[in-house]
This record gives sequence, C-alpha cells and structure tokens, in this order.
Amino acid sequence: MEPKMSSSNDDNTWLQVVVLISGNGSNLQAIIDDTTTPDCPFAVSAVISNNPRAYGLERAKRAGIDTRVVNHLEHPSRQRFDLALARAVDEYTPGLLALAGFMRVLGPEFVGRYPGRIMNIHPSLLPRYPGLNTHVRVLADGAGEHGASVHFVTPELDAGPVIVQATVPVLDKDTPDTLAARVLAQEHRIYPQAIRWFAEDRLRMKAGRVRLDGVSSTRPTRLQ
Ligand code: GRF
Repeated sequence: MEPKMSSSNDDNTWLQVVVLISGNGSNLQAIIDDTTTPDCPFAVSAVISNNPRAYGLERAKRAGIDTRVVNHLEHPSRQRFDLALARAVDEYTPGLLALAGFMRVLGPEFVGRYPGRIMNIHPSLLPRYPGLNTHVRVLADGAGEHGASVHFVTPELDAGPVIVQATVPVLDKDTPDTLAARVLAQEHRIYPQAIRWFAEDRLRMKAGRVRLDGVSSTRPTRLQ
C-alpha cells in the first residue's frame, strides 16, 4: 500500500520535502537557501543520509531541520536498507522526496511507494552520460557541451523523464574539477526551480512524461 503523502494539492499548505543526501550537500544548501525567500512554496521537513559523516547533515542542523541517518552498512541487503529508509521517510509524510547527491541506487519497490514524487539531480545532459564520473567521460569524449538535469525518478537508473536542464560549454583548459564546478553552479539553479514548480502544482509526472503548465513534453525545459 502506498503511504499517505501530503502535498500542496490536498491540504493547501506548503509542500513538505524530504531531502536524501550522501555527502557535501551543496544542492541541499541551495534548496534550503531557497526556502528562506519570502515567496517560497515549499519547506524541507527532514534530511536523511545513508552516510553518518555527510557534511550535508551539518548544513541541515544549522538550518534547524530534522536529520536522520539510515546507514546502508547496517543493513544486510538493499531491500532491507530501502525498507528502513522508507520507514524514516514516512515519519514525515512528505509530498516530495528530493535526492541531492544521494549515492545509493533505490530499488523498484522503494520507487513504487512514491510514484511521481521522487526527483533527482544528475550532473549531465540526460539521456547522455547516465551513471558515475560524468565529467571525466565528457572530457574524454571531447564533447562541446555538458550540463545538469533534474528528472523524476523511475526504477531504471537515471532514466526517468527529464524536467529541466542547464548547459555549460566545455572549455579547452577544463579539468574534471573545473568542469564539475561549473556544472554544480547550474545544479544549484535548476533544482530549487524544479521543486518550486512541483510545489506550485505546475509540474507533475503523468503517464511517464513530464507535464509542466498543462503541457506534456518529451523535451526538457532548458534554463538559460
Ligand atoms: C552533484 O553533482 C550531484 O549531481 C551528484 O553528486 C553531486 C553532489 O553534490 N549526484 P552535493 O552533495 O549536492 O554538493
């Protein structure tokens, strides 16, 4: 049975977002920073990390947000980890789960508990470069452009419908680190924007497609 999910749709309050992290949490910080603007239509109710040392946990505490650790090393299988994670998430009855540098692959049962209510940020122009080490692979291929994507999460890794992207040019002098830094700056722009659209009921996943402002599209919005 699907857990009860609150949303701005049914109770006329702010969308409650639970953010899942594994590390530094700079995307989490961008999301938290957005909630401090007066017109922000969402709130972060909890931050959950699989990694007890994730710096993002400090960022959340500093902002007065509940934190939880569900350590994958303390669970004998992915299914058991996913179940423990779902229990922690469901304590907050969020309207949206935002994966922000969350480095565990979630199984189909977990994803199926929250249909159309999980987003992820990925450092490439999906469907190009799913998976890890995107910046190294982009440079190795001599690609001319790179970027970041926010997408809805479906059971297949990095393959859910893409909501919004931002591009950066690849420069001759780029290293993986310089390229990653420019892409990350774009991630910090597009992730809060996608969450806002969702909170404002402008954005949904319908029949496996992104629907933004009533228009179903196979092409993601590009933010300049
Ligand atoms: C980001 O590039 C994100 O797209 C990727 O991991 C990085 C996490 O950065 N999945 P941060 O933890 O948000 O700083």
